[in-house]
Amino acid sequence: MTTRVLTGITTSGTPHLGNYVGAIRPTVRASRQPDTENFYFLADYHALIKTGGDPARVQRSTLEIAATWLACGLDPDKVTFYRQSDIPEIPELTWFLTCVTGKGLLNRAHAYKASVDKNTAAGEEPDHGVTAGLFMYPVLMAADILMFNAHQVPVGRDQIQHIEMARDMASSFNHLYGEHFTLPEVVIEEHVATLPGLDGRKMSKSYDNTIPLFVPREQLRKLIMGIVTDSRAPGEPKDTEGSALFQLYQAFASAEETAELAKAFAAGIAWGEAKERLFERLDREIAPMRVVYDELMRDPARIEAILKAGAVKARAIATPFTARLRHAVGLRPLHQLVAPAQDTKVGKGAKPAFKQYREKDGLFYFKLTDVRGDLLLQSQGFANPREAAQHIGRLQQEGLSALEALATSLELAADRSVIADALAQLAPDA
Ligand code: TRP
Repeated sequence: MTTRVLTGITTSGTPHLGNYVGAIRPTVRASRQPDTENFYFLADYHALIKTGGDPARVQRSTLEIAATWLACGLDPDKVTFYRQSDIPEIPELTWFLTCVTGKGLLNRAHAYKASVDKNTAAGEEPDHGVTAGLFMYPVLMAADILMFNAHQVPVGRDQIQHIEMARDMASSFNHLYGEHFTLPEVVIEEHVATLPGLDGRKMSKSYDNTIPLFVPREQLRKLIMGIVTDSRAPGEPKDTEGSALFQLYQAFASAEETAELAKAFAAGIAWGEAKERLFERLDREIAPMRVVYDELMRDPARIEAILKAGAVKARAIATPFTARLRHAVGLRPLHQLVAPAQDTKVGKGAKPAFKQYREKDGLFYFKLTDVRGDLLLQSQGFANPREAAQHIGRLQQEGLSALEALATSLELAADRSVIADALAQLAPDA
């Protein structure tokens, strides 16, 4: 079976070396693997959440990111490469999912909670400055993923919870309306390096220490000459450990080249010369792509046409699938009456459900949700999935009495009687 892989790139900045090494390069390589079907899109609806009020920046960033991915070797004939806002079915699905998502689920999203915590710490109203767009971010993202029934979603660690939420929304919807969605799995690139920036901290827009991927050669040299180093003079041995310059080199060079630079460090290479070597090594990889990038940037109409062709491919899936979903939820032509008994609905076959998942901390958790997907109880983290499963087993077998016995490892999110009711529905003999 072919695995469907999907990921989105928010169009709110200019790609830098960190993006290239951490996401673009590995993704373009992965897109060439056999037996995968790849969907990559520019998440420009998401960009509106961060860049509200700066339309020129959204447009510019969309152009730059599209040109970057193409210049880095993404083949639009082999993958489906499109722009989120070219798929009107996405906001429609966002609404369908909104209607099966507990507000409480969204309250627990890390990004939203961080804003609330910041406000609380500053003595502001909890939702001060928080848009409903930020709050709804995980639902829009779930729509991106579920629309194409992606199996795998490669993302950064900060996005794991969003994929978990997409799974929650998919199960809630499936529960209410039948099996329409595949539950997506998160894929974390464990071994890709996070690059240091000019000042040695992680390369990030928020630290203002980035090296843009595509700047003219001379500008790249100037930026690299500005990387912080210690004050060791030429001839003094230098540490590779903790050297931003060395780490950057390593991300581009072969193992042999890296070993050679390490030797040069030990032999006391001057910082200026080490920077020159880094620059030449980087430019060797970047220069051919830069030629393509510059060409594409001079011809935005060509990029527009590529994205529009991608949207046609994407909509060949999204349009009929949305028609099916519309039918499922009851948005139907009035002359095609369907007998209520043929519809899947709450109350008929719908049950509360246990869900097991793994969190960023590496521990295994489970939770119990009611028929609408609202949280009833939440476990502590367990070191292994077996322990979590044993707790679930006891709750199913013993109901209320297990609830008492296991109280210290559970956090109840509803009345005991409501939870006991739900457990009764899940009892083996129910
Ligand atoms: N939120 C993602 C990020 O900031 C971007 C994104 C939007 C995305 N929709 C997605 C990623 C769907 C994967 C799947 O990195």
